Parts: sequence; C-alpha cells; structure tokens
Amino acid sequence: MGRLTNRVALVSGGASGIGKASAVRLAEEGAKVVVADIDAELGQQTVGAIQDNSGTATFMHLDVTNESQWQECVAATVDVYGGLNILVNNAGIAVGGSILTMTLGDWQRQQAINLDGVFLGVKYAIPAMIESGNGSVINISSVAGIKGSANLAAYNATKGGVRLFTKGVARECAANRWPVRVNSVHPGVIETPIWDKMNPELLEAGMNTMDLESMAEQVVPTGQLGKPLDIANGVVFLASDESSYMTGTELIIDGGLCA
Ligand SMILES: NC(=O)c1ccc[n+]([C@@H]2O[C@H](COP(=O)([O-])OP(=O)(O)OC[C@H]3O[C@@H](n4cnc5c(N)ncnc54)[C@H](O)[C@@H]3O)[C@@H](O)[C@H]2O)c1
Repeated sequence: MGRLTNRVALVSGGASGIGKASAVRLAEEGAKVVVADIDAELGQQTVGAIQDNSGTATFMHLDVTNESQWQECVAATVDVYGGLNILVNNAGIAVGGSILTMTLGDWQRQQAINLDGVFLGVKYAIPAMIESGNGSVINISSVAGIKGSANLAAYNATKGGVRLFTKGVARECAANRWPVRVNSVHPGVIETPIWDKMNPELLEAGMNTMDLESMAEQVVPTGQLGKPLDIANGVVFLASDESSYMTGTELIIDGGLCA
C-alpha cells in the first residue's frame, strides 16, 4: 500500500479486464486514477469499485483512435488531479481470422485502436509528465508482440509495433533527459472478455465462446490461465519507483509461454 501516493494515473480501456484490474491496483497503491474508455457503464463500475475501496477515481470518455479526445482527456486529467505521472496504454482489440479473408477494414480498425491509440497516448501524455516532473508509460503489448500465431497475424503486427515503438520512445525520452520511463507489458493467456470478441464471423454466428481453461492447460507451460490481477501487479511495479532504472524493456507475464 502507498507505493503510488501523490501520483496521477490514466488507464485507457479501464472499463474491463486488464485495464480494470490495473486501475483498481494503481488506486490501491494510492494513485488518483482516470478510467478512460468508450464504455461508460462499465467504466463507471470500475470507478465505483475503486471508490468503494476508499480510492480516488473518475471516469472520462475516450476513444483512443480520436486525437482531439486524447488532448481533451490529458488536459482534463491535469485539471482535475493536478498532473499526470502514469499512463497505461491498455485499450485494445483482437481481430482473429485468416489473412486471406480478413478485410482491410478490420485490419485498419485494429491498427487504429492498438497502435494509433498508443501513439496518440504517448504523444499527448509525455509533455504533461515532463511538466509533472516524472512519468511512467506502460504500453500493453502481448506475447503476440513477440511470437507469431496462425490466424492472429494482423494482431501480431499491432502488438509487435507496440513493442518496438515503446523502445524507440524510451530512447527518445532518455536521449532528451526527459524524466519519463517507457516500458511494455506482454500478457499471455489472460481470462478477460477479449477472447469472446475475437472472431467477427464466429461472433455473428453466436459461436465465439472459447474454453480458456482447457486452452491454457494445453498451451501454457504451467498449465494455468492468467488473471487480470497477474498483469495489474506488473503494471504497478513498472509505475512505481521500484522500477526506476528500467526503461525500454519488456515485462513478460505469461506462465512460461515465451520461454
Ligand atoms: N486477455 C488476454 O489474454 C490478453 C493477452 C495479451 C494482451 N492483451 C491486451 O491487453 C489489453 C486489454 O485487453 P483485455 O483482455 O483486458 O480486453 P477487454 O476486452 O476486457 O478490455 C478492453 C477494453 O478496451 C476498451 N476499448 C476498446 N476499444 C476502445 C477504444 N477505441 N477506445 C477506448 N477504449 C476502447 C473496451 O471498451 C474494454 O473496456 C489489450 O491491449 C489486449 O490486446 C490481452
């Protein structure tokens, strides 16, 4: 408790899954948290969970593909809480399916959320972090940003992009002596709603539910399905001063999947 007292955090995609768990854990450690998402109803539930736990949080509408909304969200965060120290670029979607049948529209939608969204977050958060005196950017990539997977090539492209973009931005911050660290987190198979939204064709046919426990048993070396909290604990570590000498690196949390 108290590892992030007096810090202000913005979590994109904070309404669900890994973003929700990260927002809750950051608040538990004392950060004031902006939960930013397109889903106001679930976003308010995250805020409610934080407040019920005596934490400080507020919801802001943010579509991460929208440049002016990013500008407004960062400015409003600084207005409400007096600065910005932690950005979790978490909002993301996974569009599965063969590259032969994937539409250009699906490719571009996924690029826009997973990669443009991260670019815009970094672009507008870093000046506010410099102004605030310190910052930690945590970009949520994936094991799919390290290894390829059949029927996930387009997702691989976005997450591989996030991984290397992170390193480039980290070096730019370091070269300029800006007080901002930038790292990526690479979750393995984590139990969140993302899996049920993955394949648009199956979704339309109402057949998209995956048995994640069995899949994890088969593909994860430890046999375990990860929980959002497993990732949130890594996010808190990268947000805190305990990781103060870490920048441009990648934290893999995957039950051994990449080993
Ligand atoms: N769950 C996993 O196994 C897993 C593994 C590796 C990486 N990830 C990554 O973790 C991140 C979080 O995923 P999750 O599993 O918690 O999924 P999730 O579907 O539970 O949550 C994603 C959140 O992002 C929000 N979102 C979607 N589009 C948005 C937009 N345009 N603007 C703002 N918010 C938007 C959704 O409303 C939702 O609240 C994603 O970047 C995902 O790629 C997840």
